[in-house]
Amino acid sequence: MNYPVWEMLSTGGGLLIAIVSAIHVYIAHFAVGGGLFLVWTERKSYAENNPTMTEYIKKHTRFFLLLTMVLGAMTGVGIWLTISAVHPGVTSLMIHNFVFAWASEWVFFTVEIATLLIYYYTFGKMSRQNHLKIGWIYFAAAWLSLVIINAIISFMLTPGDWVKTKNFWDGLINPSFLPSTLFRTALAVMLAGLYGYLTSINLKDESLRRTMVRYCSRWVVLPLIVLIPTGWWYLEVIPPAAREMISGGVLDPAYFANWVLYLTPIIIIGALVMAARLPLSMQSALAVGLFILGFLGMGAFEYVRETSRRPYVVYDHMYSNGLLKDQVAQSREQGVLTAARWVKTTQINDQNQEQAGRELFRLLCVSCHSMGGPRNDILVQTKSMDQADLLKIMQTMGGKRAYMPPFPGNELEKTTLADYLVKKTP
Ligand code: HEC
Repeated sequence: MNYPVWEMLSTGGGLLIAIVSAIHVYIAHFAVGGGLFLVWTERKSYAENNPTMTEYIKKHTRFFLLLTMVLGAMTGVGIWLTISAVHPGVTSLMIHNFVFAWASEWVFFTVEIATLLIYYYTFGKMSRQNHLKIGWIYFAAAWLSLVIINAIISFMLTPGDWVKTKNFWDGLINPSFLPSTLFRTALAVMLAGLYGYLTSINLKDESLRRTMVRYCSRWVVLPLIVLIPTGWWYLEVIPPAAREMISGGVLDPAYFANWVLYLTPIIIIGALVMAARLPLSMQSALAVGLFILGFLGMGAFEYVRETSRRPYVVYDHMYSNGLLKDQVAQSREQGVLTAARWVKTTQINDQNQEQAGRELFRLLCVSCHSMGGPRNDILVQTKSMDQADLLKIMQTMGGKRAYMPPFPGNELEKTTLADYLVKKTP
């Protein structure tokens, strides 16, 4: 309401956020779990007095550094860019409420960059002990940045007491904070194994290759011990309506929850097969396949988490279209177009109905519906509907149709939007 809307009617801004963030999270979790993989493997290579393994982990560090610091950092900034363009209201809320958390996160991120560069450039030049210490500092900083960012992300689904108190710590240490932190930590460790395959399969020395691939399989399989109970705990603490949408619903959160449910055992079985004596070509193909499945599984998990909080962006507080829950009653009285700051039409008359309808759709619906695009196309939803059908649907938005926010406009705005959509629908 308070910001202009970036109109991407055909694709829907959400899709853009989804693409950038899917890539980012897959790298960002690797930046954490992979950091542990680096020091752990380096230490192991010293303990076993295995210089070829030390050489391997040094090469892996280069891969790690380039991927996390270039693509990871770029997509991280990309998320800020896309969310602030697509959802300025919630971006502002997140920044204003958690300034200190973001500031700390940036400190940790700076420590990550510095220690990773030192770790890479001093490999083999510094005393082993000090080098391992640098590695541990990197991992600690990376994990702490996961803790903070995850706290803020989990806040959006389960803001808990914050909704009443608006207290910084209530928001940060929210009901799903702990299970999701543990869950993501386990995921990060798992990813370290999946990424580890990619470099291990290139090893010329066959016996080292087999050792490293088997070692990576352990990284993929063992976190399951944490993943299952914390995943279950996570589901227990989220709002019942969100859980229902995930477990028993017919909408996309339930669909993608199934992806997570089926992909996880497939990846685990794949990792066990990797540990067997396979021909190199098969092993390479499987490593790439598992890497892609990991990406799909991770993306599906994030998608489920993001969409299960519908119709909110911050549960019980702010709706997807940026309207606050507390503002609905007033907005119904006053009218959306009068309240919104970035509209051309404030009074609807005979001449401007089409423009008013378009602006109402942009303000209230475009955060979830595209028009003629791939994401939840409104033209598909309204096919063969007339004005009366649409009015009935708008009446039940936020009630029976709990996946949509309540319609916050007055009666004239309701009919204007309905007319606009009926005219648009082929
Ligand atoms: C929070 C996201 C969200 C917002 C905002 C939203 N919708 Fe929806 N809408 C959905 C979802 C999810 C569905 C169900 C899609 C499906 O069935 O696959 C849906 C379905 C519909 C349908 C089909 C009937 C039904 O209930 O399945 C209509 C019509 C519709 N929306 C209109 C609107 C209009 C008009 C607006 C703006 C005033 C709007 N929506 C805003 C998420 C949203």
